[in-house]
Amino acid sequence: MRAAVEATGQLDERGRLRHLLALEGLPRALVEELLGSAARFAAAPRARHATLAGRTVANLFFEPSTRTRASFELAAQRLGATTLNLEAERSSAVKGETLEDTLLNLQAMGVDAFVVRHAAAGVHARLAAVARPGVAIVNAGEANVSHPTQGLLDALTIRAHKGADLARLTVAICGDLRHSRVAASATAVLTTLGVGELRLVAPRELLPDAARGARCFDDLDAGLTGCDVIMMLRIQRERITSLSVPDDAEYHRRFGLTAARLALARPDCIVMHPGPVNRGVELASEVMDGPRSVILEQVANGVAVRMAVLDALLGRGG
Ligand code: CP
Repeated sequence: MRAAVEATGQLDERGRLRHLLALEGLPRALVEELLGSAARFAAAPRARHATLAGRTVANLFFEPSTRTRASFELAAQRLGATTLNLEAERSSAVKGETLEDTLLNLQAMGVDAFVVRHAAAGVHARLAAVARPGVAIVNAGEANVSHPTQGLLDALTIRAHKGADLARLTVAICGDLRHSRVAASATAVLTTLGVGELRLVAPRELLPDAARGARCFDDLDAGLTGCDVIMMLRIQRERITSLSVPDDAEYHRRFGLTAARLALARPDCIVMHPGPVNRGVELASEVMDGPRSVILEQVANGVAVRMAVLDALLGRGG
């Protein structure tokens, strides 16, 4: 994990959300407000709303995605917005157009919000700097830096099972922490919400440089013992260039969550994973499909969280 990034410029002069660039630096009251709004949307998942009627939300994904992209599109549609999906690999970006120019052109067509995933750090802040007033940039995944809506949906899922007071909880985030934007945003939001104990559990070579107040473990069994929440992460092989990482079988033997290992956690411990899961590597199918898994609830909560974020940015006269 990299040093905490406190995104500036994501709040307006009245402290309301103008862009969503990162969770670091967001006031707890605003995080609570977003989670409260998301919980209301989650309680009526099939309901349709009209708060974004007349608005247009564009998805610009320069990295692959299943959950985030689909759920932003569904979220926008359920709020009454028009949606636009730009196929990055077939856009004029491949002819050398800058990201800023891509944004300015789509903005000229009346796009009100840009949901952006990109492999380069800093892209979202750059786009926020050129977006005209009233046009929002939403971070849907930034390099290994942050994935703020994933952090929010993870917090929403934990609260749904464990209640709003996180102070008595022990949460373990396990896997490739060094390359994970999910871990970075989960760390940020759980810290903001006052989690009791946060553990970062990984093979030594995949532990983050900065623990940011968490306890680090390089032994999975020790890291899981007594936990209330376990969040497993896949190895981000696409971001690993120089490290030597065990092959899948060896990784599973050392760091895969199995039913036997889950027994080390508290009996009511929930198991989370942001997806995509590499079955049989970081997570055994018996656990993924078992009664303690809340992975598909996370996916459902993703739509609700993205509705809450878009509503905060563009709804209610935003
Ligand atoms: N959790 C997550 O970001 O999944 P996708 O890459 O499929 O969007």
